Amino acid sequence: MSWWRSGFVGAARRKLEDNNPSRKYQKFALIIGVTGIVGNSLAEILPLHDTPGGPWKVYGVARRPRPPWNADYPIDYIQCDITDPEQTQSKLAPLMDLTHLFYVTWANCATEPENCETNGKMFTNVLNAVIPNAPNLQHICLQTGRKHYIGSFEAILAKKMVHDPPFHEDLPRLDSPNFYYTLEDILFKQVGKKEGLTWSVHRPGVIFGFSPYSMMNILTSLCVYAAICKHEGAPLKFPGTKEAWNSYSDASDADLIAEHQIWAAVDPIARNEAFNISNGDVFKWKHLWSLLAEQFEVENGGFWEDEEGKRSLVEMMKDKGGVWDEIVKEKGILGTKLEEVGGWWFVDIVLSNEGMLDVMNKSKEHGFLGFRNSKSCFVSWIDKIKCSKIVP
Ligand SMILES: NC(=O)c1ccc[n+]([C@@H]2O[C@H](COP(=O)([O-])OP(=O)(O)OC[C@H]3O[C@@H](n4cnc5c(N)ncnc54)[C@H](OP(=O)(O)O)[C@@H]3O)[C@@H](O)[C@H]2O)c1
Repeated sequence: MSWWRSGFVGAARRKLEDNNPSRKYQKFALIIGVTGIVGNSLAEILPLHDTPGGPWKVYGVARRPRPPWNADYPIDYIQCDITDPEQTQSKLAPLMDLTHLFYVTWANCATEPENCETNGKMFTNVLNAVIPNAPNLQHICLQTGRKHYIGSFEAILAKKMVHDPPFHEDLPRLDSPNFYYTLEDILFKQVGKKEGLTWSVHRPGVIFGFSPYSMMNILTSLCVYAAICKHEGAPLKFPGTKEAWNSYSDASDADLIAEHQIWAAVDPIARNEAFNISNGDVFKWKHLWSLLAEQFEVENGGFWEDEEGKRSLVEMMKDKGGVWDEIVKEKGILGTKLEEVGGWWFVDIVLSNEGMLDVMNKSKEHGFLGFRNSKSCFVSWIDKIKCSKIVP
């Protein structure tokens, strides 16, 4: 049987079914990072009537108040800062019905050793609140990423790549600090404390998805950049390297990652395994670039270099806060500040390297046959970002 794909239910019907108070839940999920790029997809997909393992009752955690673009999903929203152990205990320990935990959050610190410490504490706080208090807890999905094979951002910037792509799950860990390794080690230790509790680790590459609250959302950032170019009558120049422009790259669709986690949560074959998760095809940025230009009706400026051969969105967008304020006012879109919606540092990193591909063989061999067409999902997420009035 091929793996189910979410999203075939009409929105109106979906809402009626999900709000039916007489639903008898089979599983109880907690999403940590529910407004993030994958958390938001999980919040949409888990409560659907045809989601495997369901009906699911869903709780979701984030620090900020619930944003309007997440508010329609039938989940219990919990404001909690998981860096604070007392707050995490008091808000999450009462969720005694939990059967599944989806951990899709992180903190971005100045150095990788700090990342290890802070992210390790956050994850530990959650596990300490949930594992002893939820007697029916069955499975924990931990999302990490491809930096498992490439090393931390520090290592990427220093071009310290050790493993040769395409990356597969059997590659050994790199010999440098990496908060993904810290999270895995905490997971393995904590899961061992409760009999029958299982885990899965999910390793996406660059994620194509929707969330203005994500710390790394390449599509929102590119849309904002395109909107600024359009507003200024400037061509949309590719701010990356020739390698990134010309080489094969891949991406991981946020809904596909959510489906992958749900698969691992309910299919025993995926228990206690780590899996790559990417769309299953390749693209070149030069091809996506013309799609981006089309979506914003702006001239495609293509690949370019300044006199010093440097390009950086961090530099290019330094003084554009006022321009973005003007666009927000003029076009009547959601009131955001440029620094909230433009993750320029992340775009600079992604577009400075040739694509570092993974392989999906292990997931397929275990029965997960989900995939996405990267070009189509690139356009449909842009559409969603526009429809949600994040950009004009
Ligand atoms: N984004 C990508 O392209 C990408 C690619 C590969 C791997 N990954 C990895 O995927 C993992 C998850 O990242 P993501 O990009 O999916 O996350 P994200 O989009 O940045 O979302 C983070 C979520 O966690 C919440 N959050 C942050 N700090 C919190 C705290 N202290 N307490 C409670 N909630 C908190 C955020 O909302 P509030 O801010 O309101 O709290 C948000 O809902 C990370 O390990 C990341 O490295 C990401």
